[in-house]
Order: sequence, then structure tokens, then C-alpha cells
Amino acid sequence: MTSTRSDLDKVLVTDREHWLEGPPHELFSRLRRECPVHWTSRVSEYPDEDGYWSVTKADDIHAVSRDWRTYSSEVGGVTAVSDVFPIELMRAMFIGMDPPKHDRLKMLFQAGFTPRRIAAHEPAIRGIVVDVLDRVKDRDTCDLVTDVAQPIVSRVIGSFMGIPAQDDAVWARLMNTALGAGDPDLNPDGIKSIIENEIPEIFRRCSEMIAERRERPTDDLTSVLVHAEIDGQKLEEHEIVMGFFLLVAAGNDSTKATYCSGMRAMMEQPAERRALLDDPSLIPSSVEESLRMFPAFAHFRRTATCDTELAGQPIREGQKVVMWYVSSNRDESRYEDPDRFDVRRNPEHQAFGAGGRHFCLGTALARLELEIMFEETLARYPAMEMAGRPTVVESGFINQLKTLPVRLSAAA
Ligand code: HEM
Repeated sequence: MTSTRSDLDKVLVTDREHWLEGPPHELFSRLRRECPVHWTSRVSEYPDEDGYWSVTKADDIHAVSRDWRTYSSEVGGVTAVSDVFPIELMRAMFIGMDPPKHDRLKMLFQAGFTPRRIAAHEPAIRGIVVDVLDRVKDRDTCDLVTDVAQPIVSRVIGSFMGIPAQDDAVWARLMNTALGAGDPDLNPDGIKSIIENEIPEIFRRCSEMIAERRERPTDDLTSVLVHAEIDGQKLEEHEIVMGFFLLVAAGNDSTKATYCSGMRAMMEQPAERRALLDDPSLIPSSVEESLRMFPAFAHFRRTATCDTELAGQPIREGQKVVMWYVSSNRDESRYEDPDRFDVRRNPEHQAFGAGGRHFCLGTALARLELEIMFEETLARYPAMEMAGRPTVVESGFINQLKTLPVRLSAAA
């Protein structure tokens, strides 16, 4: 390679050119080796955005994630590009709050998301997975993203939130457009239309659900938000709507992403799939390996609250600090042969965050969904194969396939 350190100085990590085929793993590998805390000076598509630090190694991300006093989620939001969502809306979700308010609000949900409580949903989740897989059973081909993964994850989170099944597709569209805001297919009308169209529609639809629950409390998570009290005060309407948005968005997108990329890896590496078919007790390990290699969120971001230093790199108060989970999950200092998909590896990883206050609320739910989705898909379609080129969402934030055409019952 003839490149020099100075060409890294010019790299703009979130720029679209790097993400057209998915995460730029070679670039991240170089950054980890040569410049593990890297400065991007600007975001080409958003000229008003400030630059940011990219943190690419697992130990450094762990340090940022755990130190919420120095690295705030509230000051500037949690994504590298702040332009899509107004900061007041980010701060209305507990993912965009710092302690103590963050902890109080998160606590209201934590009890419902423990592995034990989630395990009680196993039969219901399996029922949803089987139902959706049965819908495609007479077809030769289908799209694993839109025909299988999307309806499953929408119904699972929809049932937690109290969304009627007939509204799943509408909520899925709203979430995909808002989270994939920069993708020309998911959001053909451009970034401004999120503020003009999708956010008002989310508010309108959600306000109707809130009004119903004010009159008749239910036992779903929307009701928890409506009736929540923090220090004797109810949440404001926009905090309820954004709390709802956070849960539906997180539940809708993430599990779908890791399932589809994991299935693709199995189809591309039949020996790994064979190992799972021969020994289904490896499925939980394959879930962790899929989370490691294909984390649903490429990054989350913090903002420095004071002048500080990370791995020898001075960082100034107010600067953005981006934690690249797509990079730390392939950090050579933690994983041997990190780009190899190995269903026996059963790794620890940072797909759900790096151990700080904002560690994913939905880990138990996501793990259970993924296990059941892999189990039931492999049992029904052990010889599924790719039936065309998959496409990826053009995004430096959500790391997911947009389409994954498959042939369901290729000759076994
Ligand atoms: C493959 C599945 C999933 C992945 C990879 C994932 C990943 C993440 C990550 C990386 C964070 C940390 C954000 C940060 O550092 O600021 C997070 C937070 C969160 N996740 Fe997940 N997630 C998944 C599934 C889910 C599901 C199914 C839910 C269901 C409700 C969920 C709800 C949340 C919530 C509410 C937060 C905010 C937690 C906080 O701010 O304290 N996630 N998730």
C-alpha cells in the first residue's frame, strides 16, 4: 500500500462514498492500526455539521461508554450527524438523556426486559415467527428482509407496545424512513421531509394511542410511558411520543438487521450453516457471532463535557466523539481472524453498547428473537440460498441490508 498517514487525515469517515457497500471494514482496520482516535473535519452532505472524533478500538470505546460525566448523550445527541432530528426531540428519549433523569426513566422499563421476564414471551414470539415463515412456505423465492424479518420484528415490538397488527406496516415504514433518512430508497423525499412529514405523522398516530390509554390504561409499554411519574411529575406529551418512538425504532430495526446479515453469512459459508444444522445447541453462539460481525448500529455518539484526553489524543469540550461498534467488534487485539464468521466463537462484543449507562435495554429480547428466528428458519429452509445480489442501506448509522432475495427450498 502506498498510502501514508497524511491521507488518513483527509478521510471523512461518515461520507457516503465509504458506505455504499456496507461498513468500510478496511478503512476501520487501518484506523485501528494507524490512528485509533481519528479526526474527521466535516460531513460533506451537511455543511453546517461540526467534525468529530472517531473512536475505533474496543478498549477506548469501553472507556468513553462508561464515563457519562465526560462523554454526554444529552449535550449534543447520540448520532454523528445531528441534522436529522432536532436536539429537543433527541433529549426527550432516554437514549438522549444523562443521569439522573436517564436512570429514572430507564428503570421504569428495566423490570420488564430482564431475561426471565422476556423468556415468558417465548411461546408468543415463536408463534409470530412460525406464522410469518408459514406465509412464504408455498413460494419458491422471497425477500428475507421485507417478507420475513420485517413482519416478525414489527409484530413482536408491536405486541409489546400495544400497536394493532394491522398498523404494523405503517409503523415499519415510518421507522425505516426516519432511521434510514439518508438512503434514496427508504427516504426518496430527502432529509427535510422527515421533519415535515414523518415526525408529524408519528406524533399524530402516537397521540391517538396516548389519548386512548389516558382514558383506559392497558398493560402495554405505551401505557407505562403515559402513566410514568418522575419525581412526582408525569412525562410531557413529546416525551411520551419520543419514548414510544425509541422503543419502536430500536425494536423494529435492530433485530431485523442482525438476522438478515447472519442468514446471509450462513448462506455464503455453508460449512458454518452445516455446523448449526448438525448441532443446534450452537445457535446461541451463532447469535453472538452475528451480533459481533453485523452490529445493527454502526455507531453511537457522545459529546465531551470538558477538555479531556483519550488514548493520548486531546479532545476539547464540546467536540463530538463517535464510538464505532462496527470497528471495535473486529478489533484484532480482541479477536483472532476478526473478519471470519465462526458460529463456534461465542464472543463477547459491543453490539449492544460498551458497558455504560446506555447499554441496550432490549438485549434479552433481541437475543431471544434472534435465536428463535435462526432456529425456525434453519429448520424449515435448511438449503435456502441467495437468489440475487443483496443491497445495503446507505447509512453510516444503521448497518443493515435493504433487500436479500433468497430461494427458499433449493434442493436439499
Ligand atoms: C440486534 C438487536 C439490537 C442491537 C444490536 C441494539 C443495540 C443497541 C445499542 C448499541 C445501544 C446503545 C446506545 C448508546 O450507546 O447510546 C442500544 C440502546 C437501546 N436499545 Fe437496543 N439494540 C438491539 C435491540 C433492541 C430491542 C429489541 C429493543 C427493544 C425495545 C432495544 C431497545 C433499546 C433502548 C430503549 C436503548 C436505550 C438504552 C439507554 O439509553 O439506556 N434494543 N441498543
